[in-house]
Amino acid sequence: MDKKLIIAIDGHSSCGKSTFAKAIAKELNYIYVDSGAMYRAVTLYCIRKGLVKPGMISLEGITDVLNDIHIEFVYNPDLGEYETYLNSENVEREIRDLDVSSHVSRISQIYAVRARMVELQRQIGVLKGIVMDGRDIGTVVFPDADLKIFMTASVDIRAKRRYNELKCKGVDVSFEDIRSNIIARDITDENRDISPLRRADDAVVLDNSKMTVDEQMDWVRKIIEEKFR
Ligand code: DC
Repeated sequence: MDKKLIIAIDGHSSCGKSTFAKAIAKELNYIYVDSGAMYRAVTLYCIRKGLVKPGMISLEGITDVLNDIHIEFVYNPDLGEYETYLNSENVEREIRDLDVSSHVSRISQIYAVRARMVELQRQIGVLKGIVMDGRDIGTVVFPDADLKIFMTASVDIRAKRRYNELKCKGVDVSFEDIRSNIIARDITDENRDISPLRRADDAVVLDNSKMTVDEQMDWVRKIIEEKFR
């Protein structure tokens, strides 16, 4: 296919957006952009600067430092994946830590943070040939994306996948806690005032509750074939 596309993938947490987005990017030889990682990198920067602590957020402080934050995605050929860099430092692991995870949803609701991230995401989009996943990619960041996919899966299936993933990593968690956390995150994502998670009118829905990644790839190949070839 000659035309380079912008593919926007939005959806609920823990439904396999990044796995799917990475697989599409690999197949098409596109750049994969994890927009959640950008919000996580900003959160890490703010934690390090003491601008966010349990129960405290310095809105003014965060707004002041936004222009000092530079985020890039650098391809690691050994892993065959893009990794997140914050001001030239590889922070891919640190941004997944519990400390960042527990603050990121509040940081991502700050208007100035979102405005800056959307600006950066659009700059990356100028390149075309990208797959970006998040919550507002098809609705706010790229309302004219060539292909928009809205992903979801049942709460129980998402909780089970997340539970198995964490168990494999040796993390001691209960299934019920994970399930409650997923429900709470859905409520936060769908009901926040700014850029709430919602399906764009022209997005195709993918409920992958009963699908393997291979089946999802077959599904998307068919759509791309029909729409763009
Ligand atoms: O997808 P994730 O769990 O890594 O996202 C981290 C946080 O960032 C999560 O609280 C939702 C938020 N987010 C957002 O508000 N907008 C996006 N485009 C991507 C993520």
